[in-house]
This record gives sequence, C-alpha cells and structure tokens, in this order.
Amino acid sequence: MWTKASQPQVFAARRARLSSRLRGPALLVAGLSRPRNFQHNRFPFRAESHFLYLVGRSIEGAALLIHPKGATLFAPPADPEAELWTGPMPSLTDWSNELGLEVRPIEELQGAENIAALPPQDLDCALWLSELLDRDLEPGGGEELQGADAELAESMIALRLSHDDAAVAQLKEAAAVTHRAHLAGMRATRPELREASIRAAMEAEIIAAGCATAYGSIVTVHGEVLHNERHDGVLTKADLLLADVGAETPEGFAGDVTRTWPVSGRFSGTQREAYEVVLAAQLAAIAKVAPGVRYLDVHRAAGLAMVEGLIGLGILRGSAADLYARGAAALFFPHGVGHLLGLDVHDMEDLGDRAGYAPGRSRAEAPGDRYLRLDRDLAPGMCVTIEPGFYQIPRILARAEEVGELESALDRAVLARFADVRGIRIEDDVLVTPTGYEVLSAAVPKSVDDVQHVMV
Ligand code: GLY
Ligand code: MN
Ligand code: MN
Repeated sequence: MWTKASQPQVFAARRARLSSRLRGPALLVAGLSRPRNFQHNRFPFRAESHFLYLVGRSIEGAALLIHPKGATLFAPPADPEAELWTGPMPSLTDWSNELGLEVRPIEELQGAENIAALPPQDLDCALWLSELLDRDLEPGGGEELQGADAELAESMIALRLSHDDAAVAQLKEAAAVTHRAHLAGMRATRPELREASIRAAMEAEIIAAGCATAYGSIVTVHGEVLHNERHDGVLTKADLLLADVGAETPEGFAGDVTRTWPVSGRFSGTQREAYEVVLAAQLAAIAKVAPGVRYLDVHRAAGLAMVEGLIGLGILRGSAADLYARGAAALFFPHGVGHLLGLDVHDMEDLGDRAGYAPGRSRAEAPGDRYLRLDRDLAPGMCVTIEPGFYQIPRILARAEEVGELESALDRAVLARFADVRGIRIEDDVLVTPTGYEVLSAAVPKSVDDVQHVMV
C-alpha cells in the first residue's frame, strides 16, 4: 500500500479560508532541518504543521505569506552545488506549477514588516524568522501570543480543529497504515525476541507505505513506563507487550494507536481480566463521543468505568462514584484519556493549551485530570484519541503520599495477584461526526478474541 496525496485544490481552499479570516499579512514557515550530531548529518526534514496544512509539501527553508487577497510562497531557489548530492531540485517555476501558487525567491521576503507569525519551533528557526520579519520571535509560548499573532493562532486553530474532507482522508490513510503495522507487530511477537524486533516489524510496514512514524514508537513489556523509549527488553512468554505506534502520511497527518497483547498469544486469566476492564473503560469513553459533549466528561467516563471495573476485580473496595471522586482512577490511570489528533500527534500543541482548551477553560489540579490535554466541547470534524490504561506504577503505588487515604480502599492482596499486568493501554483514533463518532482505527484487532486470533 502507498498513501494517496491530496489534490492541489485542497490546499488552495485552505489558504483561501485562512486568508478570508485575516485582517493583515501572516507568515507560516516550513522551518529548517535540525542537525543530529554535526552540521552535515541532519534529521530528515519535516515542515512545520501549519505550513504543511496549507502547502502539503515539506519544502525546507520556505515560507508561505498569506494576506487578505491571497498567498505567495517564498522558497529557496535550486542550488546547483547542493544538487550534486540531492539530485535535481525543483525550480521555483516547478513549485509554482505543482502547487498552483505564486512562488518567489525567499530573499525577497527579507526585512518584511508588520507580518503576523506563530512561535518558531526551535532556536535556529527563531533566529531565521526573526531576521526575516525584523522582530524578536522566541520558540514556544502559544498562550502568550498577542495582537495579530494571537489572531493568526486562533484562525489556524479554527481551521485545523475541524478536519476537512481531505484531512479526514489523510487521517484514514494514516490509520490504515497503522493498522498494518499493528498486525505485523502482533504476528512478529515471539518469546525470546527483543522489543526492538517487534518495533522493526511494525515500522517496516510504515516505511514501506511511504510514511514516517508519527512519534517515537513505544514497544515495551514495561507498559507502566508511560513514554518508555527503550527497546532492548527481551520478551518472555508471561509478558504483555504494549505497542503505541502510529504512521504519519507524507502530508503530515498522524495515526496514534496503542494495543497491548500477550507475548504467548494467549492472555493469562489475570491479564484478560485487567484487559477487559481497560477495554470496557475505553468503549464507555468512545460511546460518549458526540457533538456538544465536553471532552472532560469523556475523560471522566473512562475513569469512572475504570474504577467500576477495578471494584469488580476486587482491587478497589467501595462505591464507584465515591472512589472516583476521591481520585482512585488516577492510582492506575494517571494520564488524560486522549488529545486532539491531526497533523501533529498532539495536534497543535505547538500553541500550548490554546488549541486543546476552550477559552475560559484551563487544566484542573486533580491528579487524574491535570495531564488532560484537551477540554473542548466536541464538534463534527474533530479527531481525538481515546486511550485509557491500567498501569501498576511503583512511583504511585509504592508511595504513601500518592496513595493517601485511598490505601484503605485498596486490596493489596488482590492487586498482588495481578503481578503479570504491569501496563495496558488501548488507544483508538476517533472522528467526531454530525451524529456521533467514527473509529478510524477500528480495524486494528482489539477484543481479547480478535487479538488472540491474529496471534495464532
Ligand atoms: N503516542 C503518544 C500518545 O498516545 O499520546
Ligand atoms: Mn495518543
Ligand atoms: Mn499513542
């Protein structure tokens, strides 16, 4: 499978929508590639997401000027010296023909004034952009933007929050490749292999489809380490393997899917019981997704279902509503239930919480809520992840100050029986539709039976 590209009219329509919202000119930069360890050994270039949204191509060193009457792309002219190494580079005319845009040399932009911009991604980009626009711009800080910069951020958020048809098609492409990656991971899993082998099998599908990984793959038998970056662990037949792996299409749209499966191909009794609790919480949260629903309530539905499930297993004792109100869900599920998904895996997080939190809302303090990256009312065209988990994290469960008065509600003897369950997360990509939702990653096996069936 090879991912399909959007037509040039898609980007023209997005540029027109942005330009109709602006009162003055704005610049969206593609950015610069980043060095790995020395100047000439560089990470593959991936343009900044706002630029990709409007242009669809990663053109290093380019910048798109949008003004109320239209758009002009400023790009570096082909460099004959560099072409020795890169092969022929598109000329500005080639870009213009391909993109259906006026394209000018980037030098012509130098020193332009009174142009709105978004925060640059890193210091190199900040220096470059500050020079182009003749004013000081610093990385980060989307919340602190003022004036025309803030208006630009709000316009981009309004456009990107509600995915157009082409964006939905891209998200579906990303989900389809991600599906193949997870199937490959399940099928490649064997005791005695290292986590890295399963990661390789999964990423091979992504690379073979012309995609990149949308974020650093998590493939680990220590799922309780939430963003585990290690891949050197050796799988044993008693382990669960947690794989949080997603593809990114060449236009930059992301998949973000987690599955947790038994290395042996068969869940143990305790693994199965804990898995069913997480799955019930995930399904309860997905079932709430609909236009007008506040995402915080989706998060809370997952937490409440998790507490109900843990009471059912005998790990917690008491009434679900009371235990949830006292923070019991966060003992085992300390992160948010999900986030926006689009071009960025945490979509538009370059703008801080400005994109994820509706005006007037901010992060709650409670342990189970403070890592929630999204609290908006859902609307058709939004895409979110739903990703509850159950983790036995020593940093929480072994510290009296974290467990607090919930200790009396916790049955440690029962919990000890679940020693072969360190971490389970189940994550899907969910599009909000006019009447409810569509799970874009629904094809990825998820029920106990479906997972075991793939692994035989
Ligand atoms: N893969 C990162 C996340 O799920 O948020
Ligand atoms: Mn996610
Ligand atoms: Mn994920």
